Amino acid sequence: MDTLFIGNNIVRLTEVDSTNSYARALLKDVNVHEGMVIWADNQTNGRGQRGSVWNAEPLANITFSLILNPGFLNATNHFHLSKIVALAIHATLTEILGTDNYDIKIKWPNDILVNRKKICGVLIEHIFRADHIHQSIVGIGLNVNQVDFGELESKATSLKLVSGKEFARDEVLSKLLKNLEVLYLQLKQGKEKEININYLKFLLYFEQETSFNDLKNNSSFKGKIVNVLPNGYLEVEFNSGERRKFDMKEVGFGY
Ligand code: BTN
Repeated sequence: MDTLFIGNNIVRLTEVDSTNSYARALLKDVNVHEGMVIWADNQTNGRGQRGSVWNAEPLANITFSLILNPGFLNATNHFHLSKIVALAIHATLTEILGTDNYDIKIKWPNDILVNRKKICGVLIEHIFRADHIHQSIVGIGLNVNQVDFGELESKATSLKLVSGKEFARDEVLSKLLKNLEVLYLQLKQGKEKEININYLKFLLYFEQETSFNDLKNNSSFKGKIVNVLPNGYLEVEFNSGERRKFDMKEVGFGY
């Protein structure tokens, strides 16, 4: 592994309920070095955002959790970590696919899309201590060689589906871990301004009018994304020029 600490220790599992759950249990019991990766060939209870499930064909994809100790991050700035994770996935896909035939986008909060279909999902769980993040479990599910997504066919994709090629999963994971380390170290050095600029550069519907669903009032409105705040709130500008901030439970939009 061509990294300083991320992925130096990879726990390889044939099957587990969820790598995030496994990591959480491990953190309760033992002292874990920052950068440890739990990588499973199959998850029987893969977890997604907002209580959803993450289904991935065994042995075809990458499903892993990375343990980080971002003690330098205040709890209210937790979304900086989501930004660097999304950027690392974006950079890895760009490295593998190039940009000529592929539109690689980050969809707030942290899905990654290729040609408007979801290729990667992220579930980050934090353990807080006082007002800081003590430990983070960064769970990533990247679709690599799966070609059948059943009823999700119109929404999901994989590296193989978009490129027609098979990929060695360990090579894809190595690239991703390398990019995660580079970006994590940038964040640790306080480069959150540059990180945000890059995040917005690849963000779907940044400065572009689209239709949003108001999840609380079950209605819709038009506007454009103008920023994503350190706490993860989405800042939207309406046609009137008025700006409002929404959290994940308040707003959604399609792709
Ligand atoms: C989402 O898009 O809803 C997030 C999906 C996150 C899936 C990954 S797979 C590895 C890790 N373990 C889990 O149980 N979930 C995450």
